[in-house]
Amino acid sequence: MNRRLYVPEDSGALAVGADAVARAAEAAGAEVWRTSSRGLFWLEPLVEVDSAEGRVGYGPCTPADVAAIVAGTPDHPKALGPMDTLPYLQRQQRLTFARAGLTRPLSIADYEAHGGGAGLRAARAMAPEAIIQAIVDSGLRGRGGAAFPAGIKWRTVAQAAGELKYVVCNGDEGDSGTYADRMLLEGDPFLLIEGMAIAARAVGASRGYVYVRSEYPRSVEIFGRAIEVARAAGWLDGFDMEVRMGAGSYVCGEETAMLESLEGRRGVVRAKPPLPAIAGLFGRPTVINNLLTLAAVPTILAEGPAYYRDFGVGRSTGTMPFQLAGNLRFPGLVERAFGVTLRELLFDFGGGTASGRPVKAVQVGGPLGSYVPEEHWDVPLDYEAYAVVGAVLGHGGLVVHDDTADMARLARYAMAFCAQESCGKCTPCRIGSTRGVEVIDKLLAGDERQESLLRDLCDTMKHASLCAMGSMTPLPVLSALNHYPEDFRR
Ligand SMILES: Cc1cc2nc3c(=O)[nH]c(=O)nc-3n(C[C@H](O)[C@H](O)[C@H](O)COP(=O)(O)O)c2cc1C
Ligand code: SF4
Repeated sequence: MNRRLYVPEDSGALAVGADAVARAAEAAGAEVWRTSSRGLFWLEPLVEVDSAEGRVGYGPCTPADVAAIVAGTPDHPKALGPMDTLPYLQRQQRLTFARAGLTRPLSIADYEAHGGGAGLRAARAMAPEAIIQAIVDSGLRGRGGAAFPAGIKWRTVAQAAGELKYVVCNGDEGDSGTYADRMLLEGDPFLLIEGMAIAARAVGASRGYVYVRSEYPRSVEIFGRAIEVARAAGWLDGFDMEVRMGAGSYVCGEETAMLESLEGRRGVVRAKPPLPAIAGLFGRPTVINNLLTLAAVPTILAEGPAYYRDFGVGRSTGTMPFQLAGNLRFPGLVERAFGVTLRELLFDFGGGTASGRPVKAVQVGGPLGSYVPEEHWDVPLDYEAYAVVGAVLGHGGLVVHDDTADMARLARYAMAFCAQESCGKCTPCRIGSTRGVEVIDKLLAGDERQESLLRDLCDTMKHASLCAMGSMTPLPVLSALNHYPEDFRR
């Protein structure tokens, strides 16, 4: 029998040559299974082989490495040993990403062989209100940024009047340094389909949409095929869904702008009320959840809410797939219970900077997140503890900068980003961000009086903007100014 090699087909692996490695393996006589990615990106293309101790890994591989792996050469220079013994994986608590790197994305058989489907089976034996209560009891909060309790949102939709209801998955994933949504869409699509089918049953929705950013064409294609497979397998049962490509704008990730975009209009934020839970897509009651929120649901139904709630701290229950990016030696996906610290993520997992220089600042939670200085690296990553230090977790993205970073330029960039991406509906954001760039330029030109003007402007943006685009842009700006004042004096 031919030796079987597992080679990821996730975009991150493809970008560094996984296809060429797979072709070389086939040419060397191996049977090749294309799997999802483990999310250990510095090791991609990662090749795995079955052994008596479980799968053993080799990486990062080039086509030239593969013949010796196929031949079973011991002491291969790229050998990593049994994957389960790698500290990077051993120290994680993978619930949502339990199958990452193990299964073939479009194989329902693989999905079920690794525990998939149990949540939907459990949900089908439960009354809709019991499903909602399980989500409430689990403490699951939205992973798109606002951390709103998912079960409460679902109950509002379930109780809203109307025959036609929707479930919309927000896969716009615009935050800097994030890729967890993409990994799931490409690597474990049935998990999201399962989570959406459970949500639909709970609230009485008959139709679902998955909004995926236009920068992820491969995710759109794979997820579309996964829907067809699931439909043919009878998984959808009274519920149908489709994937829609986003409109290439950060603000289209804001839930009401996303609804506008889904309805075929320009992505402009809607004033609330009405809440989308009452009058959302096409004016109907709509559950809108982030992709990671919906992907956490099958575990809660399969294992029970208490199991899920026991991970985490305080009101931040469960796990968060943190996405390590920027200037790090070992960037990758680290799923851990809330309460892990930034220092652990940066050094125990990330291995410090790739440049070898000291870490200066970490932007946590996307382009609207604060720059977190070293004095806060031991604060537990949970929603409440982060709010106390003026920071946010967002979608779990971390972008790391070394000591060459110019925090004043990064503050300016935050204002410029807001000016570029603003939907234009409200004045504090539309005009304020443009004035903000000008004020920072004057401050950097030596006019120190501009600092109080900048603070006033941030105050107005924070309190008077219609959505978080304008109200949170002050976070990166002021955290840079407050924690790194020396960078603003030239
Ligand atoms: C400018 C802006 C961009 C956003 N981008 C995203 C995004 O890419 N993905 C996402 O899930 N939520 C995003 N959000 C948050 C959504 O508005 C919304 O809170 C979320 O989709 C609700 O799902 P959740 O409760 O599961 O987190 C964004 C918000 C703002 C203000
Ligand atoms: S804050 Fe910005 S993005 Fe949000 S509604 Fe106002 S102009 Fe639009």
